[in-house]
Amino acid sequence: MKILSGMQPSGTLHLGNYLGALRQWVEVQSADAHYCVVDLHALTLQISPEMLRKNTTDLLATYLAAGLDPEVCTIFIQSQVPYHAQLNWLLECVATYGELSRMVAFKEKSARQEGYRVGLLTYPVLMAADILLYDTEEVPVGDDQRQHLELTRDIAERFNNRFGDTFTVPLGVQPKVSARVMDLQEPTRKMSKSISSPLGTIYLFDSPSDIKRKISKAVTDTDGDVRYDWETKPGISNLLEIYASFAKETPDAIASRYTRYGDLKTDLANLMVENLSPLRESYDRLIQSPAELHAVAERGAEKAREQAGAVYRRAAQAMGL
Ligand code: AMP
Ligand code: TRP
Repeated sequence: MKILSGMQPSGTLHLGNYLGALRQWVEVQSADAHYCVVDLHALTLQISPEMLRKNTTDLLATYLAAGLDPEVCTIFIQSQVPYHAQLNWLLECVATYGELSRMVAFKEKSARQEGYRVGLLTYPVLMAADILLYDTEEVPVGDDQRQHLELTRDIAERFNNRFGDTFTVPLGVQPKVSARVMDLQEPTRKMSKSISSPLGTIYLFDSPSDIKRKISKAVTDTDGDVRYDWETKPGISNLLEIYASFAKETPDAIASRYTRYGDLKTDLANLMVENLSPLRESYDRLIQSPAELHAVAERGAEKAREQAGAVYRRAAQAMGL
């Protein structure tokens, strides 16, 4: 199965990024899997060149710490494969302003910024280029990327209809549980990097005491029944999904073992600390050797350029270039 996914180097990952995306990537990695740090996408965030560089190295270390293995899959930095930006332009001449302006992520982000840049609008076209360059069949991402995946499919189909069969039409895949991890303080809103919620967000490299504190303070409800029911019990359902994701069980099976919120929270916090501590230790070790991390990315980019170059030429030729 040909797989591609990526994440923006926008700072420390939270639990949603890990359970919704990165952990799936590790499970499905193979010689046909490509994972990139999408630094070009991060130019739409307003971060300094120094921060972007630092975040890129951090994210490489995080990929490896989580278990992506450069001997098994291809790990690279998007900007080191120029075909992404090149195909982006070709696809911008296929995508329409109307469909881009309907993207929920664009509407939300543009509403929060005055004088937002064109890149915020065309962001999903670059994402489509990332995906289509590798003849990708499946894209493991969290629930919030569904609409971008649909757009990628539309662009690929439109291109194929107009210029002849060129691209594989990809499918987005979400994990069964935790495709949408919610904020612990506001369980009807997804856990997010862009909205500050210090107690509601668990970062991948939070200390054990922070994890325990945040879980113990997580918002629940007053009916006192441990049940998996998003309609009436979003706080508890969110905790049960996180638990299920780590324990590889179903939320209902876990709910059936508990009668008290406190016990559920204590066990969940311990399970998380147990699972996340090794990641944090690997990250601390890997980040000591930035040159090695970049050597891994350089080797990955070399492999990626070969593959992406072939598909880019196919698309350029089809369009008459
Ligand atoms: P982003 O934070 O937008 O760079 O997202 C990186 C990856 O994490 C994407 O695949 C998202 O779908 C996924 N993701 C982000 N937030 C969440 C969340 N709260 N729950 C599950 N997955 C998420
Ligand atoms: N848009 C994705 C996000 O915000 C990141 C991304 C860019 C991506 N290119 C991609 C994800 C290609 C999957 C495949 O999380």
